[in-house]
Amino acid sequence: MSKTRQEIGPYDYIEHFKRNTALLVSMDKNGKLNVMALDWKSIEDLEGIPVIRAQVAYSRYTYKLLTEGVNEFTVNIPSDKIYHAVDIAGSYSGRNTDKIKEAGLEIIPGNKTKVSTIKDSDLSYECQIVHSCKSEMSSHHYFYGKILIAYASNNILK
Ligand SMILES: Cc1cc2nc3c(=O)[nH]c(=O)nc-3n(C[C@H](O)[C@H](O)[C@H](O)COP(=O)(O)O)c2cc1C
Repeated sequence: MSKTRQEIGPYDYIEHFKRNTALLVSMDKNGKLNVMALDWKSIEDLEGIPVIRAQVAYSRYTYKLLTEGVNEFTVNIPSDKIYHAVDIAGSYSGRNTDKIKEAGLEIIPGNKTKVSTIKDSDLSYECQIVHSCKSEMSSHHYFYGKILIAYASNNILK
């Protein structure tokens, strides 16, 4: 585990999680990572299992990776230092841009997942998809990722 962050419980710092845009990292079958900006997200208790629910539009490359690539994702709340990545992750597609490189993000290999988390995040979560379904309210798909481990950076730890 990196010394710049510590393990936390899945529901700790939930207000900070809710308030901020996240960076969702997914992975294709060859191990290539992609990152997308994610506002539509929540942390929920799914029959006793802590999950992150991510709403992803069908048009996103991320949707393809979550359904056809690796069955895991990470969610990262960026600190001010890497906040510029939200614009890049939210306006380009991983189909034709290596956004992690473009945004100059450094990654930390997952402890519980194949998918990496992002260095200099305030909060990071490694998740395994346990359920997914169509949203009846929007043109998005719901992905429920069981939180296998969560971290907070030393900067936000009280
Ligand atoms: C601030 C912000 C928040 C966003 N939130 C979401 C979201 O919750 N769900 C979604 O499907 N797209 C969201 N988007 C749009 C995607 O991040 C964007 O379409 C991205 O380019 C998709 O990348 P991809 O094709 O590599 O998956 C958001 C964009 C921005 C700028």
